[in-house]
Amino acid sequence: MTDKNRSQWDLKRFVETLTYFEVVPLINWIQDLFQGRTKDHQNQPSGAKQVGVILVAGATGGVGKRVVRRLVEQGYRVRSLVRDIEKARTILGDQVDLVVADITQPETLTPLVMANIQAVICCTAVRVQPKEGDTPEREKYYQGVKFYQPEIVGDTPENVEYRGVKNLVEAAAKYLPTSEDQILFDFTNPSTEIKNIWGAVDDIVMGGVSESNIQLVENTALFAGNVSTANSGGFASVRTKNFSPAFNLSGYEGIELRVKGDGQRYKFFLRTDTRWDGVGFSYSFDTIANTWINVRIPFADLTPVFRAKILQNSPPIDTSQVSSFQLMLSKFEYDGQLNPHFSPGGFALQLESIKAYGGENLPQFILVSSAGVTRPGRPGINLEEEPPAVRLNDELGGILTWKLKGEDSVRASGIPYTIIRPCALTEEAGGKSFIFEQGDNIRGKISREDVAEICVQALKQPQACNLTFEVKEGENRASSVEWQKLFSQLQPDKQ
Ligand SMILES: NC(=O)c1ccc[n+]([C@@H]2O[C@H](COP(=O)([O-])OP(=O)(O)OC[C@H]3O[C@@H](n4cnc5c(N)ncnc54)[C@H](OP(=O)(O)O)[C@@H]3O)[C@@H](O)[C@H]2O)c1
Repeated sequence: MTDKNRSQWDLKRFVETLTYFEVVPLINWIQDLFQGRTKDHQNQPSGAKQVGVILVAGATGGVGKRVVRRLVEQGYRVRSLVRDIEKARTILGDQVDLVVADITQPETLTPLVMANIQAVICCTAVRVQPKEGDTPEREKYYQGVKFYQPEIVGDTPENVEYRGVKNLVEAAAKYLPTSEDQILFDFTNPSTEIKNIWGAVDDIVMGGVSESNIQLVENTALFAGNVSTANSGGFASVRTKNFSPAFNLSGYEGIELRVKGDGQRYKFFLRTDTRWDGVGFSYSFDTIANTWINVRIPFADLTPVFRAKILQNSPPIDTSQVSSFQLMLSKFEYDGQLNPHFSPGGFALQLESIKAYGGENLPQFILVSSAGVTRPGRPGINLEEEPPAVRLNDELGGILTWKLKGEDSVRASGIPYTIIRPCALTEEAGGKSFIFEQGDNIRGKISREDVAEICVQALKQPQACNLTFEVKEGENRASSVEWQKLFSQLQPDKQ
């Protein structure tokens, strides 16, 4: 950069860019050393965590706590609805997000509890315990290895299993998004500071002098700056750090941006390659000056590029592994063509949101109910052969009858749902094969671990929508479970 005719190239900004994106690990290592940081600098935002929250009700219970653990392990944003925060901390630890509410008291299902939910998993239940009392011996009762005469303690089945579930369904219906769209970035209500995720990548990386940034202004993200064509430059952009885990957008048709621009043509990139200088999947879109528009970017219309050169033989984007996004204003289109709607100088693009659109319908309310709910009073039932809850339904305050009414409120809600009716629950390790049935005729047992896994899997399976089914474990251990096959062999409920 010695040529006097050339504009002043800014080394400091160049280094800042590389440091922000951790392109040169050595620079970050030296920085950490000087600033006394020992933790690894892979402070990557999580793709899974950008999407909505999974609310788990009954999170302190045998199934609920396992659902929470699995969701956290899989990178979901989880919120645990609990009645007693101290008890919940001892069961769930310090790292989980807890909210205090009681499903029998609808006024406690406040926006604090319900905001930004993507799905609800309901594992609540009335308290049933051996009549002898809640002694260490009762372990055997919970493990399903010994029968004790049970009784309800605390609130009634009518209140918890029916009214409580209905309250939760009604509250959820007000907050759940329509499942075809998934907000990835809501700049009107951001969940993370923008500067922790998005950073500028201007043509300074190639010797240019363009300059841009992105910041929150008036409940929007404003991507603005100055593009200069000096030093053979001509682009400004903002890019996210790599997300880990990556965004899984399989099942969606594309990305929708809500933007207000200045009449210029911009580019949006998605990357599955976590390398700094790798393949990008690009889409050019025109803006209308000072007008809010929705821009749809179908995944099928993305152009694979390497530094604005089209890659002819690249496979299509793997939408289950989207690791970063980038917005750009460039003098160039592709393969050296000029951007027809570009002028150098100041520019501004405002963004309200970035969504994935055209998603498959996924279950949004998962209810753990019970096998046997339709059996009390059913003609031809031999009570001798039935599990205790069926035999003792009346003594237990109509527990199964109210559970069925709770199920009915889910089925009638219009929310895509999955109702899981496990047979007797055990504390065993799980990992057995599953037997899924419909018609409420099976008897058997299943571990709480496995029920928790079914809850989490149902969240991801379009085939699990609007199903009610019973489940017990089979004889054999399952080496792997074909979830899609298991769910798709079932008949959806008649609406
Ligand atoms: N036991 C079996 O053999 C069997 C068989 C088939 C199906 N099921 C069903 O499977 C499900 C899960 O069973 P589980 O053993 O995991 O149950 P659990 O250990 O008894 O847990 C019940 C959970 O519900 C919570 N809860 C109760 N009332 C509530 C309310 N009003 N508001 C908010 N939370 C409330 C409890 O919270 P606290 O900690 O505050 O009490 C607890 O976290 C239940 O629906 C159960 O009926 C059980």
